[in-house]
Amino acid sequence: MRIIALVGLMGSGKSQVGQALARRLGWTFADTDAEIEARDGRSIPAIFRESGEADFRAVERAVVRGITKRRRMVVATGGGAVLSAASRRLLYEAGPVFYLRVPVEVLAGRLGADPGRPLLGDDSYAALERLSAERETLYADRTIPVDAAAPVDRIVDEILGYLADARRRVRVDLGPRTYEVRVGIGALALLGVDLHGLGARGRVAVVTHRALARRFGEDVTAALEAAGFAPHVMAVPMGERAKSLQQAGRLYDALAEAGLARIDTVAALGGGVVGDLAGFVAGTYMRGVRLVHLPTTLLAQIDSSIGGKAAVNHPRAKNLIGVFHQPALVVADVETLRSLPPRERQAGLAEAVKYAMVLDAELFGVLEGQENAAARRWSAQQAEEIVFRCASLKARVVETDEFEEGPREVLNYGHTVGHAIEAALAGRYVHGEAVAIGIRVEGQVAVRLGLLASEEARRQDALLARLGLPVSLPPGPAGPLLDAMRLDKKRRDGRIRCTLPEGIGRARLGVEVSETLLGEVIHACQESS
Ligand SMILES: NC(=O)c1ccc[n+]([C@@H]2O[C@H](COP(=O)([O-])OP(=O)(O)OC[C@H]3O[C@@H](n4cnc5c(N)ncnc54)[C@H](O)[C@@H]3O)[C@@H](O)[C@H]2O)c1
Ligand SMILES: [Zn+2]
Repeated sequence: MRIIALVGLMGSGKSQVGQALARRLGWTFADTDAEIEARDGRSIPAIFRESGEADFRAVERAVVRGITKRRRMVVATGGGAVLSAASRRLLYEAGPVFYLRVPVEVLAGRLGADPGRPLLGDDSYAALERLSAERETLYADRTIPVDAAAPVDRIVDEILGYLADARRRVRVDLGPRTYEVRVGIGALALLGVDLHGLGARGRVAVVTHRALARRFGEDVTAALEAAGFAPHVMAVPMGERAKSLQQAGRLYDALAEAGLARIDTVAALGGGVVGDLAGFVAGTYMRGVRLVHLPTTLLAQIDSSIGGKAAVNHPRAKNLIGVFHQPALVVADVETLRSLPPRERQAGLAEAVKYAMVLDAELFGVLEGQENAAARRWSAQQAEEIVFRCASLKARVVETDEFEEGPREVLNYGHTVGHAIEAALAGRYVHGEAVAIGIRVEGQVAVRLGLLASEEARRQDALLARLGLPVSLPPGPAGPLLDAMRLDKKRRDGRIRCTLPEGIGRARLGVEVSETLLGEVIHACQESS
């Protein structure tokens, strides 16, 4: 969603509604007629008189093309802009198009005899009726109709309501801590409206990386400011090392400096690192302030932003110091994923394969069907489908086990081995890659234990490989990996346990696995074999 366009007959209120809508979103406003006049140097009636309608439409098309390349802009189109199929297509591709419908009687009353309207002539009522009849089907084509006889504020509310409802919603039902994950293309544009809806007000500390602040910071701060919030952007360093008590300390300083109080909000704009750090700080500062996750990596959108786990690392162990602090809202704008490096996207897809294997055979089919999931051509619509499905699965699991006392273990598939790979081969793989290899290894364990059919394991491994994920370990002794598994903080009584699939879409939790079997399978999953 780069722009929002308004179409409709002259007098339908496109400029007024457009300006008011832009103000509510913190976007800019443009009017194609005004841009045409600026570009041509003559007034619209003069262009019509001197050059004719065909010339005017040509300039109009060029202006529409230029405008649809911009971002965060509400565009009021001239009444005839939709006559051109090319202009219509450009508008639809750039974002939602709202059709402001007003009965001809109302229009005629609003316009009277306006000398600035070259198409109206003397009998404005008859002219409007003719235009309306001619254009109705064009205006209605792929647009969202809005009753524009209503007052401007009501029309704007209706448009905002439509945009809010167009996002997919996942409810995470946790009693008094219930919240929603709002997934969609351009979902962040409504952040201010969303927060307002939660009854929030005051300051919002936006915790993010500097690079992400450059990319998305203005989208977020403008949306917040437009809804009356005072945003403070706080940049933290990139990488796992940012998840430290030292960085948390610096954030506490910054929050105190900005005067953040109990009623205020912390927003985490970024991947799992920002989410964990900001979540930890939000959960502890003043014994907990409102937290909003604005995840920008696939992993964060489908996993880390949902469930309320937040932690920083300790020199002795990852995620050793943490809290459970549920967000009040998660906004997963899949458009942010466009700029995500392919490797990071693939890492997220490994978690999606995990969800599919242990919980959802249908998701497995969807992933298999998205042939270009690992490629540049992965569309925002495809991403939305995956994010929505995975977020829903995570939500269901979290609902059954908010504090990770048992059932949440289902999400550990691939992670017993994956964490060991991360520990023993530090720095070689990002988390999702280690999990992908872990999934292959643990899948083989499941096959050896007679839980998973080898054909199903083959399909799983083929999917991982097609998503561009590693599925083999480098050659070497299994010892360091087994040592790491023995030390894993999730082990009980020194035995290694795994969540294993019993077919695609079903899992068995806490399966004890012998080191001998693991050693054999690890060797079988090495590159040379
Ligand atoms: N709390 C939980 O439940 C939970 C669950 C899983 C993982 N985690 C944690 O999440 C962390 C990993 O998260 P991650 O994989 O998102 O990594 P990350 O947060 O480090 O992000 C990966 C990289 O992508 C960049 N980036 C983020 N969004 C971008 C965008 N839209 N465009 C371009 N670049 C972008 C980041 O700046 C970073 O360099 C780990 O610390 C892990 O422990 C937490
Ligand atoms: Zn994981």
